[in-house]
Amino acid sequence: MSLYSMRARALLSGALVASCVALTSASAQAPGPSPAKIAVESRRAEFTLIGNFFRWFGGVARGNAPYDEAEAKKRAARIAFLADLLDESFPDISNVGEPDSKAKPEIWKEKAEFDKKLAKFKEDARVFADTIAKEKGATEGFKTAVANLGQDCKGCHDSYKAK
Ligand code: HEC
Repeated sequence: MSLYSMRARALLSGALVASCVALTSASAQAPGPSPAKIAVESRRAEFTLIGNFFRWFGGVARGNAPYDEAEAKKRAARIAFLADLLDESFPDISNVGEPDSKAKPEIWKEKAEFDKKLAKFKEDARVFADTIAKEKGATEGFKTAVANLGQDCKGCHDSYKAK
């Protein structure tokens, strides 16, 4: 090996080590939002989407918006999907209180109770999606399903969400 190529190798491996050190220290500093902020923002985004997909059903049930089969199925399936994500959306670090979050500290004080409500919502959202897929119109069955799921939202918000 020539002296030149030995030098080149030494320089190259030095540069590699330096860039690895730079990467490591950058990731140790973890730039960007904190894990708590990410958890709260993700949870709020999930609920915002659930709210946006669900609102339409209330309008249709009250006769303020026209029924649409494809729309109904799509929205109900998305609510069920989003409800499935919620068990991961209340880690301890996300108990930050207002003004960043309206999730009440009771959620973490009564975790077993709260988890029951979440599990029920998840199951009810699945039943809701099945019912909505079967009902082909703003029928009594459709309206009852909307009212039932709406009770879950209200029941949980009354106890666990700040106004
Ligand atoms: C098991 C409890 C629970 C259920 C069920 C529930 N929610 Fe919530 N919801 C919460 C909590 C807690 C918050 C506050 C989250 C935060 O601010 O960190 C919230 C927040 C929201 C928000 C505000 C999002 C924001 O940050 O702007 C909307 C909209 C919402 N929920 C809609 C709904 C709808 C619609 C349903 C029913 C289809 C529902 N929720 C069911 C607990 C629940």
